[in-house]
Amino acid sequence: MSFSLETLTELVDFNQQSLLLSAFAIAFNPTFWNIVARREYRTKFLTRAFGSAQTACYGLAATIFSLGLLRDFLYERALRDQPSHPLLQGELPTYAGYTLLALGNLLVISSTWQLGITGTFLGDYFGILMDGMVTGFPFNVTNAPMYYGSTMSFLGTSLLYGKPAGLLLTAEVLVVYLVAIQFENPFTAGIYAKREQQRAKLGHKVEGKKEL
Ligand SMILES: *[C@@H]1O[C@H](CO)[C@@H](O)[C@H](O)[C@H]1NC(C)=O
Repeated sequence: MSFSLETLTELVDFNQQSLLLSAFAIAFNPTFWNIVARREYRTKFLTRAFGSAQTACYGLAATIFSLGLLRDFLYERALRDQPSHPLLQGELPTYAGYTLLALGNLLVISSTWQLGITGTFLGDYFGILMDGMVTGFPFNVTNAPMYYGSTMSFLGTSLLYGKPAGLLLTAEVLVVYLVAIQFENPFTAGIYAKREQQRAKLGHKVEGKKEL
């Protein structure tokens, strides 16, 4: 135990403030958007502030996107302050790093393409629901392409830099996203279930009218 801890402190320089800042940003972002989105769902405070649900959702999307850029910037800055490791350097890790970055970006970009801006950025909390479930690529490969794609990009970047600290921060990204999935998916499922109930009710009414 003490051996592995000592090894870890050799591989990762925990005295760098940039490491803590990066770790903080990674945990902060999903926490932020979940708190804001649930508050919006309960109180519609953003819809009221922006004048419409659509505009409010775009505003939140721009904010989340900017926070993501900041988080990526802090991650790369943290890696530059960290020691390298020979096992992560050389051709193989470099090729693996580029491959992971390409696949990760493919997952993120294709899922944004499929869902659109409001579908990607928590539109359901604003009452902007998708017509139906998206089942095409990349959703036929993974149920959370955005999160797994982003995690792959973090891993790829850590390999390109050859920094063990990157692996540690990538592990944090994965844990944070797994927690987010546990938190978000039941809520989203609840929002859609409610819509189905309302649709069923409306359907009854329409059918009732027809009979008259
Ligand atoms: C997912 O869909 C894409 C495009 O529709 C298809 O090419 C691919 O084979 C599918 N993958 C799986 C695992 O079903």
